[in-house]
Amino acid sequence: MRGLKGKNVLVTGASSGIGRAIAIHFAAAGAHVAVNYRSSPKEAAEVIHEIRSNCEKAGIPADDLKNMTVQADVSKEEDVDSMFEQVIATLGGLDILINNAGLQIQGASHEIPISDFDKMIDINMRGAYLCARKAITHFLDHGGGVIVNDSSVHELIPRPRYVGYTMSKAGMQAMTRTLALEYARDNIRINSFAPGATLTPINPWKDDPEKKADIESHIPMGRSGTPEEMAAVAAFLASDEAAYITGQTLFVDGGLTLYPSFRTPWTG
Ligand code: BGC
Repeated sequence: MRGLKGKNVLVTGASSGIGRAIAIHFAAAGAHVAVNYRSSPKEAAEVIHEIRSNCEKAGIPADDLKNMTVQADVSKEEDVDSMFEQVIATLGGLDILINNAGLQIQGASHEIPISDFDKMIDINMRGAYLCARKAITHFLDHGGGVIVNDSSVHELIPRPRYVGYTMSKAGMQAMTRTLALEYARDNIRINSFAPGATLTPINPWKDDPEKKADIESHIPMGRSGTPEEMAAVAAFLASDEAAYITGQTLFVDGGLTLYPSFRTPWTG
């Protein structure tokens, strides 16, 4: 992918799931990667280990790439400030931010504890904004940069029992569009990709064949997506191949946003 080699990339929430796949994908494309984690240093270290062993397998000396783990809870401003300081000092700058950290908690919308609602808004939406602010501040002083946000089909599709999650992702869409417009003349591009049902730890049903089959029966393509399929799209949006795209959400969902119930149309 044009324009990823040698770039400095920060991936939030990169110790598992889609973030992990993104970190590995970008490193394989020759980028220097900072793997952010909140509470799982061991998993984050394993991501770096995998990056380095992939390099060796590909015959690239692992030391040609810089990489690091960095702890931060993205919902805490002081954590975010310190993460950016560490990443910029260690990698020598920042070119690409991937806002991936997120969580989802379900429950009847009139009953879900407000503390759970707050967590989703704080991490998924406010956290993405806190990181975007810091990245943009750096980009403005260094000729530009790219932000890619990991959103969800639920920035668009309502999802009963997930009101905090859908609100956080709709907010992420508004942020993407607003920041893209505001910084369009500053060589800063901001886009989102929106995964559908993906085989990651956020979806424990992936290990339950019956539930998985039920969920997949609603997906037009008849299967879940993989973290690697999401990472490939994040890489495209971050790369120079997407140089003329800003403020957009690219849905990566096997057709989930296409009104799946119309797949076998009724007559009458
Ligand atoms: C959610 C998943 C869900 C998918 C499709 C994602 O944003 O995190 O739990 O399976 O959307 O509904």
